Amino acid sequence: MVESFDAVDVIRMKRDRQTLSPEAINWVIDAYTRGVVADEQMSALAMAIFLNGMDRTEISRWTQAMIDSGERMNFQALSRPTADKHSTGGVGDKITLPLAPLVASFGVAVPQLSGRGLGHTGGTLDKMEAIPGWQADLSNERMMEILDTVGAVICAAGSGLAPADKKLYALRDTTSTVECIPLIASSIMSKKIAEGTGALVLDVKTGPGAFMKLEQDARELARTMVDLGKDHGVNTVALLTDMSRPLGRTVGNALEVRESVEVLAGGGPSDVVRLTVALAQEMLAAAGVKDADVEAALRDGRAMDSWKKMVAAQGGDPEAPLPVAKHTQDVLAETDGVLTEMDAMSVGVASWRLGAGRARQGDPVQAGAGVEIHAVPGERVTRGQKLFTLHTDTPERFERALESLTGGATIDPDAADGTGAREDVVIDRID
Ligand code: URA
Repeated sequence: MVESFDAVDVIRMKRDRQTLSPEAINWVIDAYTRGVVADEQMSALAMAIFLNGMDRTEISRWTQAMIDSGERMNFQALSRPTADKHSTGGVGDKITLPLAPLVASFGVAVPQLSGRGLGHTGGTLDKMEAIPGWQADLSNERMMEILDTVGAVICAAGSGLAPADKKLYALRDTTSTVECIPLIASSIMSKKIAEGTGALVLDVKTGPGAFMKLEQDARELARTMVDLGKDHGVNTVALLTDMSRPLGRTVGNALEVRESVEVLAGGGPSDVVRLTVALAQEMLAAAGVKDADVEAALRDGRAMDSWKKMVAAQGGDPEAPLPVAKHTQDVLAETDGVLTEMDAMSVGVASWRLGAGRARQGDPVQAGAGVEIHAVPGERVTRGQKLFTLHTDTPERFERALESLTGGATIDPDAADGTGAREDVVIDRID
């Protein structure tokens, strides 16, 4: 086959701050997927994009080329409208677990094709796999069947969706080119558009525990993704949400399932409930369901029924006790005062070091490992009171987890009650 471009020319163009033509983008993504563009060449191009950016037309074409690298799913045969949610990832972010069955309880199909965690943010599949018997892998036929009957599915994304992104994301991970708005936006949206959902709600996190530490960058990412979704015919809206501290009071796989079930039973931490409700309202509105009382569905057990059916449809036992770690260690407050800050990254890294996350793709995770949070910013604590409980099967991990938590919680003896309390987990809405 005669190649229509040369990788070196494409790299040089971006290095020299030129706009890549649609033809050059189509070729480079396709040739990279075919193995004609080598990893070192794509690394150089990713770094050139990282440094010099891409304009809206380039990002849109780049996204389309990644979609075209694989198969597209189609949910039009379903009897229900579809809505999907994607979070850019945060510490204690278990929202998909209560959200998918909650939205499904209103007759909307929720195909949550999810991933496993890497680094300090946990993966939804790792959390669901803490449930005894639950299986992440489903055939497309089975997935459609569950969507048509139960309405919600959380499963592993097949390798056929946007394979160019799969390759490129792994490469970016090892070349320090992840935190780049055009590359993140095209990576996320190529997968979501290829999935074929009719409506998409994005949860774009900002703060020290998120990819986008600065609110202004998170806003730009949200805007870019919403525009990309609309350009591709997907009804897309984004919520900008706070990730300066962990979400809820648990971080870790089984621990987060437990908290999600509390939310489905009408309880749970207020920030988790608030975000679940806000995202559910957006998903339902985007799918054309008007005036849905989502809080009532949490209170009256409809969302819980839908959760139990969803778990059982994938081989899980929703009534089975969840795994617990073999060892625990408490971290106590060293002084009296108001807890004014809790750093999401410190808690996320501690949970990861306890065994809840993985350092390399394919590593096993511990279902019971993680961090339980006993006090949140704004609350008054007394010396000796429990701030955290660490959970792990491998007690030699405690030391490094404790190191990560050092300085992760700030107690101010002179602060007034409520200092540092989160105003609202939802910062803004971008459509
Ligand atoms: N998640 C993705 O899928 N891609 C990125 O680039 C970053 C986060």
